[in-house]
Amino acid sequence: MRDFIPIFQECALEIQKILKTNSTDYLAGVNPSGDTQLDIDVKADKIIETKLLGLECVRGICSEEKIEAIYKKNGSYLIAYDPLDGSSIIDSNLSVGSIFGIYEGDFEAAKIIGAAYVVYGPRLELVFADKILSYFIYNGDFWEEKKSLKLNQKGKINAPGGTQKDWSNAHKNLVYSLFEKGYRLRYSGGMVPDLHQILIKGGGLFSYPATLNAPQGKLRKLFEVFPFAFIYEKAGGEAIDGKTRLLDLEIKSLHESTPCFFGSSEEINEVRKTYE
Ligand code: AHG
Ligand code: MN
Ligand code: MN
Repeated sequence: MRDFIPIFQECALEIQKILKTNSTDYLAGVNPSGDTQLDIDVKADKIIETKLLGLECVRGICSEEKIEAIYKKNGSYLIAYDPLDGSSIIDSNLSVGSIFGIYEGDFEAAKIIGAAYVVYGPRLELVFADKILSYFIYNGDFWEEKKSLKLNQKGKINAPGGTQKDWSNAHKNLVYSLFEKGYRLRYSGGMVPDLHQILIKGGGLFSYPATLNAPQGKLRKLFEVFPFAFIYEKAGGEAIDGKTRLLDLEIKSLHESTPCFFGSSEEINEVRKTYE
């Protein structure tokens, strides 16, 4: 499975190239979640599709940008990916990412066996997890492996997503109680850099709750939530929907979303107290 590392690294380099030169114009189309697509969403999707379908070990793929999954006759792995996460902040030149979930048998949480994300920022970085978590930075010539990432029991970052006026009172109390305890706001609007920052700094809470305008949250299970839940658990953290472990959730359709909370143990315990 670690054979996916160089494949994701190749995708990252190709996508970084188009990010540097391509316009950030919107296309006329929307993706299956109803988000307006950018030209680069579609180009990044195509780069990853071509690379993955060319691999013998891949039996199928599904992407945030495609209505249906694509299956082949052979192979054992199913890959779900968000080719470009953070399309809405790309015009302001903030960091964006790609997210990958590796599944075996079916596209469902219980079948995830690996995950990865790429950060396109001032540096190009890849985090890959199967049984262990590996962290790579591209130095201009090759990918240097760095010390693995580990979450402490508790951190200092509070990254609260969603439309604030549509938060429940319980959720508002949770977010403000963390600020009262000294947590600092760190939220860019891209889950890849926001979750990466918490991992790099060793702890904190990222939340994207159910809100009045998005009762099922916004973040999609297969391409965004399950891969990061897998990575956070490997880093010694936790990932829940408020009550239930995200990787114990069922899924009915490819583009389904869920409320989600990722963090170190102490912060996740606070979430449990709020939502129980
Ligand atoms: P995408 O660009 O793939 O549609 O995903 C964007 C997501 C995620 O990166 C981020 O955490 C969230 O949208 C931000 O949403 P809000 O602007 O509602 O906070
Ligand atoms: Mn996304
Ligand atoms: Mn996307």
